[in-house]
Amino acid sequence: MNILFASSEVHPLIKTGGLADVSGSLPRAILGLHHDIRVIIPAYREILRQAQHLTLVAHLELEGISLPVRILSGRLPGGNVKLYLVDSPPHFDRTGKPYTTSNGSPWSDNAERFTVFCRAIHALAVNAAGLDWEPDIVHCNDWQTGLVPVMLKETPAAPASIFTIHNLAYQGLFDWKTFNALKLPADWWSVDAFEFHDKFSFIKGGLVHADWLTTVSPNYAREICTPEFGCGLEGLITHRKETLTGILNGVDYTVWNPGRDLHIPVQYNRRSLFHKTENKRELQERFALPVDNAIPLFAVISRLVEQKGIDLILDILPELVKQNAQLVVLGSGDSQLEDALQRAGSRHPKHIGIHIGYDETLAHCIEGGADIFLMPSRFEPCGLNQIYSLRYGTVPVVRRTGGLADTIVDTTAETLADKTATGFCFQASTAPALWSSIKRALNHYRKPDIWEQIVDTGMRQDFSWKRSAQQYTELYARVIAQRQKRPLLEKIAVQ
Ligand code: ADP
Ligand code: GLC
Repeated sequence: MNILFASSEVHPLIKTGGLADVSGSLPRAILGLHHDIRVIIPAYREILRQAQHLTLVAHLELEGISLPVRILSGRLPGGNVKLYLVDSPPHFDRTGKPYTTSNGSPWSDNAERFTVFCRAIHALAVNAAGLDWEPDIVHCNDWQTGLVPVMLKETPAAPASIFTIHNLAYQGLFDWKTFNALKLPADWWSVDAFEFHDKFSFIKGGLVHADWLTTVSPNYAREICTPEFGCGLEGLITHRKETLTGILNGVDYTVWNPGRDLHIPVQYNRRSLFHKTENKRELQERFALPVDNAIPLFAVISRLVEQKGIDLILDILPELVKQNAQLVVLGSGDSQLEDALQRAGSRHPKHIGIHIGYDETLAHCIEGGADIFLMPSRFEPCGLNQIYSLRYGTVPVVRRTGGLADTIVDTTAETLADKTATGFCFQASTAPALWSSIKRALNHYRKPDIWEQIVDTGMRQDFSWKRSAQQYTELYARVIAQRQKRPLLEKIAVQ
């Protein structure tokens, strides 16, 4: 199959979260299954600075956009996946982050930026860019690609589309004035298309019009059909239940593998776990915490946003300190959460180490050195860090939601007996519930034999992309076949 994979971020070129990890590794896994998959992404300044051997392959004249847009072609570093960059300098060649300015406020022209991106994806998808390559299916990801399924639907003989929801909470909502300025078809402002509570919703376009919907874990696929997790879109999603599949994200074990990880001070695997102690020592030193292997070291690596339940962690800090445990946090995001964490760090410098910012090497060192990883998310479509933690022998404590529930097996008498326990789960989104699972983790931590078993079971888990990539390609084939049948069915209906 020919597949065009459209994403607004891709590791290792540009990353704000797990979407980049998925876009960097899933296409590689699908290429490994012998399909021609190509990734398309905006040519942000950050990417232009790093990408090598780019060639100009097309000039596009896009509707509603005065300057021509260029398509540059290259390869995704670390593999052989072909990359197309949508080069529209007024929209993407600027200092800052993909969706926000350097100080975190959304770019005021985001609707226009991602409309340009969608128009360019569409042009390539229908072979209007002169590339002499036509995808059978376009795999869209998140709201930034939400206009593409409807554009394809309105083009005769266009490829099929899949829309993957990585996070329903980010919807790409804009007011009518913005919609009007985009010069999109007027009938798109309708409850059957993009309108959502008097706003223009990019994600709704994808949800209504894609041939198939997927999300990044089976559990989140069920959850988003309910008001608690559906963000107001649960009615629409339930309506599409028959064409919604949850496919669990995988992990790129060439990047996240303590046996080969060059970011961490000392490599280790299941059989040389004693080396983890050296990583722990370096981590404690780095955060100026007392160096002592007997002290349980907790860790958080996260976007600091409401979704991640960071406030629950702030609430339990006094208890953690009382237990003489340590915590290191790496994250950035909401300035109130950043400030609160930093205040806690200065109040308890012997117990809490805070690093505000984005630092990939440090993220690996934390996975390598910590004992226990905290992820008390309010909701979590899949979550990747808990899966990385398993491989690093860093036992996850997670809320039982979304992909966290699909990937971590709670420690109980039964799961210890049948050797399936990999972590600690709690249900209610409250500080006491989080604290009671931390206490359970601490109790088991103090029993080395049992702890080693939990660590070992976690390290044995295999969440590599192979199975998920297979599921995606089976789905692509099904959706393409269904799409090809459609004109025939329409003909029969007319007769
Ligand atoms: P989300 O996509 O919701 O942020 P995921 O768990 O799917 O959550 O993925 C987060 C990814 O971003 C992981 O690869 C994690 O290591 C990385 N990450 C998050 N915050 C930071 C940070 N401050 N520094 C380095 N990496 C980070
Ligand atoms: C989103 C979700 C996260 C998921 C990631 C990759 O950012 O918040 O749970 O792992 O996308 O699919």
